[in-house]
This record gives sequence, C-alpha cells and structure tokens, in this order.
Amino acid sequence: MTKPADDTILKVENLVKAYPTKKVLCGVDFHAKRGEVLVLMGGSGAGKSTIFKCIIGATPITAGNVWIDGVDITQIKDERTYNEVRKKYGVAFQNGALFASMSIGDNVALPMRHHTQLDENTIKVLVKMKLEQVGLRDAEDLLPSEISGGMQKRAAFARAVALDPSIVFFDEPSAGLDPIVISVIDELILDFSRKMGLTCVVITHELNSAFRIADRIIMLHQGMIIREGTREEIQNSSDPLVQQFINGRPDGPIPRTLSRTDYITDILEA
Ligand SMILES: Nc1ncnc2c1ncn2[C@@H]1O[C@H](COP(=O)(O)OP(=O)(O)OP(=O)(O)O)[C@@H](O)[C@H]1O
Ligand SMILES: [Mg+2]
Repeated sequence: MTKPADDTILKVENLVKAYPTKKVLCGVDFHAKRGEVLVLMGGSGAGKSTIFKCIIGATPITAGNVWIDGVDITQIKDERTYNEVRKKYGVAFQNGALFASMSIGDNVALPMRHHTQLDENTIKVLVKMKLEQVGLRDAEDLLPSEISGGMQKRAAFARAVALDPSIVFFDEPSAGLDPIVISVIDELILDFSRKMGLTCVVITHELNSAFRIADRIIMLHQGMIIREGTREEIQNSSDPLVQQFINGRPDGPIPRTLSRTDYITDILEA
C-alpha cells in the first residue's frame, strides 16, 4: 500500500469486490495521471461499472485501496473529508441518470445547490457556462424527455463538471448514439482533457472512440486487468489476446464465457 506520486490523480490498488453470489473484481490495479484520458474496455459483465461504483462509494469495497488526489477513500472516517474528496470527481452514469422531472438547468444546478453555499444568481450564471461548454445553452429550460439521447449525454456531462472536478468518470458515454454524435461526444471529452486539464476515465465499447480519445487503454476480463498500454501500443499490438479483444473474435486466448455448470444439472438441481 504505497501513496501515489503527485502526478497520479487516481490510484486503484488490489481492488476486490465480492457479492455473496459472485466475485466481480479479483484484485484490480491501475492509475490515472492528471489530465490524461484513460479508457477502460471489456466485455459485458467484466466489472467495468463495478469499478466506478467502488470508486465513487456507491457500493462497499471488499478489499483494496483507492486514492483520489492523494487521499485513500477507504480510510476516510469523517463526513467532512469525504465531502471534500467527493467534490474532486464528477460522474456521468451509464444511463445518463438525469432527473426526469427537472429541467436540464436544474439538473446541472443540483450538485451546486447540494455541495456549495453559492447564491442562486451565481448558480444561474455557472449553469449557463456549463451548458455552453457542452453546446446546450438553448436547452436550459427543457426537460430531459424533450431533448435527444446525445443531448442528454451532454447534459449529464455538464452536471458531472458542475463543481469543477479534477477527474470525471464516464460510463459508456457513446452507447446507443450514431457515429456523428459519438464523434461530438469524443471531441467534448478531449476538450475536457486538453483545454481544462481534466482527467477523464472512460468506459467504452466503441473501438474507434477508444482509439480517438485514449492516452492509455486498460482491458478488463472477468474482473481482472488482462492488458494495459498506450493507444499506440494497443492499436499496433500483435498480441493474440489484444487482437481477439479488439477484433471481437469469439475464439482465441480469452475463453468463451460458459455457464458455471451444465444447464441440465442446473435445472435438475433447481
Ligand atoms: N448487486 C449485485 N449482486 C450480484 N452481482 C452483481 C451485482 N451488481 C453487479 N453484479 C454482477 O457483477 C458483474 C459485473 O457487472 P458490471 O455492471 O460491473 O459489468 P460491466 O462490465 O459494466 O458490463 P456492461 O458492459 O454490460 O455494462 C455482472 O456479472 C453482474 O451481474
Ligand atoms: Mg457497465
């Protein structure tokens, strides 16, 4: 258990997450440097969202350590320290998670109203700035149901950066979007990183997107990191495992996910 270097904004060490029925993360180690875009890839059920849930405290960690900006969040005992750390990161959830009954502006204002003492006039100005940043200034008074899926993602981004965090976690920001909207989302993530120095940790299934935005890529399989490298290293790798992974081939060094037991046995035991 070593404290991370100053240029490391996020360090995850030997992260284990076990539910009573299943061990989902089996000792995951990775880090993110300040300002970089780190992409997390892996098949459905590999444990990607679980990593985020553990980092943001949405589910208890079974074992391991997580440092955010030098603070080990697994060791925090008091609420004040937790709230301070909480302000350092933003989250754009897999499903957007906007509040359906609130306008886009109110959704973005929510963390400001919850975590700061700012007056309403200041919040109004800040909300406009955040919406401008993601190209949604005209959508301030609309409800989430009144804007497109791509716009909802951008609204979720505006809310994720509402408190000027140092790091943002994006869970599948491109899921279900058309290729043009995906490039718009990619550009936004790159803008956050290059223009604002934000560290972006992005879960994505979109290979093109990953290769466009990533400084480094981590590959997760069944709760374990199986490969890690710069975009170029992964892109140019002849490693059969990387090849199978990025080409989505069913056969190769990564075994197909099979049922735990024969299904006839399962049925007879039930
Ligand atoms: N509360 C829970 N109890 C038991 N198992 C769970 C629970 N939550 C998640 N899991 C299991 O953990 C595994 C990893 O889930 P997770 O959501 O992290 O996958 P993922 O890599 O994000 O997949 P996807 O790409 O489909 O979003 C899955 O097999 C899931 O069924
Ligand atoms: Mg997920």
